[in-house]
Amino acid sequence: MQTALFNIEPKEKEADISEWGTFKDSLKAPVHGWFTYPAGFSYKAVEHSLKQVLLLEGKSTIYDPFMGSGTTNLVSKSLGYNSIGVEAHPFVYRITKSKMNWDILFDNLNQSLNLIKNKLSKTERPIKLENYLQTEFPELILKCFLPETLFDLLVIRNTISELKQDETTKELLRTALICSLRDVSIAATGWPYIAPNKIKVTSMSKKGWETYRNRVLKMYSDIIQIRNKASKMSTTHSLINGDSRNTIGKIENEIADHIFTSPPYLNNFDYADRTRLELYFMGEAKNWGDISDQIRTKLMTSATTQINRGDDKYQFLDSFKKECPDQFTFLDEAVNQLSKLRLTKGGKKSYDLMTIGYFNDIYQIRKDNYRILKPGAKALYILGDSAPYGVHIPTDELIGQIGVAVGFNNYQIQILRERGGKWEKSPQRHNVMLRESVVILQK
Ligand SMILES: C[S@@+](CC[C@H](N)C(=O)[O-])C[C@H]1O[C@@H](n2cnc3c(N)ncnc32)[C@H](O)[C@@H]1O
Repeated sequence: MQTALFNIEPKEKEADISEWGTFKDSLKAPVHGWFTYPAGFSYKAVEHSLKQVLLLEGKSTIYDPFMGSGTTNLVSKSLGYNSIGVEAHPFVYRITKSKMNWDILFDNLNQSLNLIKNKLSKTERPIKLENYLQTEFPELILKCFLPETLFDLLVIRNTISELKQDETTKELLRTALICSLRDVSIAATGWPYIAPNKIKVTSMSKKGWETYRNRVLKMYSDIIQIRNKASKMSTTHSLINGDSRNTIGKIENEIADHIFTSPPYLNNFDYADRTRLELYFMGEAKNWGDISDQIRTKLMTSATTQINRGDDKYQFLDSFKKECPDQFTFLDEAVNQLSKLRLTKGGKKSYDLMTIGYFNDIYQIRKDNYRILKPGAKALYILGDSAPYGVHIPTDELIGQIGVAVGFNNYQIQILRERGGKWEKSPQRHNVMLRESVVILQK
């Protein structure tokens, strides 16, 4: 019998826990919603969680090992707690860093906007505009924007990097440009895939400069709004572009009073792909290979797009087998089933190796989280289970059990919502009902 570690039912009537694993409320909230990161979660869930534990304003520290768009860190800062966040995706990390910087001066922004506008009005468009753009951008980008709009965005991009302005202002201007891209794209740029052949009619009349300028001004007004409401307590926020599997030397032992996070779900998103449009536009990647080298290789294993079957690293770690024998036995059987099943399927997907890599990583992260957490403190993980080729992997149960095997006192699971029903009628998909849960571990 598990003891109740956490009162999950929010007192406020309007709070709906089934949406805790989604980015819906965060998208509408000032600063939180700048960059559409649907892998993100609800800021209200974080607020609820932090109100449930005894924390001291200005003193307590909250940790998120999968910082993503910074929901946990933004809430911590607003409520007056210190925070630490680790994010392995360098591009997402940089955007989040600019979301956490609220010391922006309007005069600096305004001056920069005037310089950009001036540059735009003075720069002549090449006569053979489309040919010129082809030399600058990969095809995906050419398909996603009208040439005139793309040229304006390019001038804005280059002008920002040449500005003689302080770095924090420049970072905000850069984030605003990145966040404007999907506003003006004429292609359906949904999550997770971009459909360059599907035209988004509502964007046809949107102009690059006006959209960008409005973004910058809205972002500034968001900062004022969040700053005015926030605790006036001085706090520190350590944001690390790194790997939460091992943070020794970067994060102290027993420094965190609470963890609130959401790890990548098994077989769900390819996070590296989420930023394809943005990386291509910014000139930071040109193809799948660049994105793999710069991003995929840095993330914990969670998708088959990360797996190279020739790589012999996909074996259960000896320490995992030793410390978590029951979870190893369960997973080993599932992996054997998956390696046989894949040979009977057209796509021959490497779900077997993906599962090994995922749990090796989860095990290491659980140990590192345990080290960072203060005795008696709690760690909350929002996550979904998975059923590759119909083989159910109850990640919430397994993560709770692995936590206890590495030292946590106990765990509790609360189901937030059922998911996966939309696949019921698809003959290609399994019909296992999946769920999204919150796993609560106490040290
Ligand atoms: C479910 S998302 C978290 C979203 C975040 N809670 C938010 O509100 O935006 C998981 C994040 O973990 C990051 N990630 C994957 N592997 C990582 C690793 N080894 N260390 C740190 N972050 C990692 C991914 O890039 C992704 O942003």
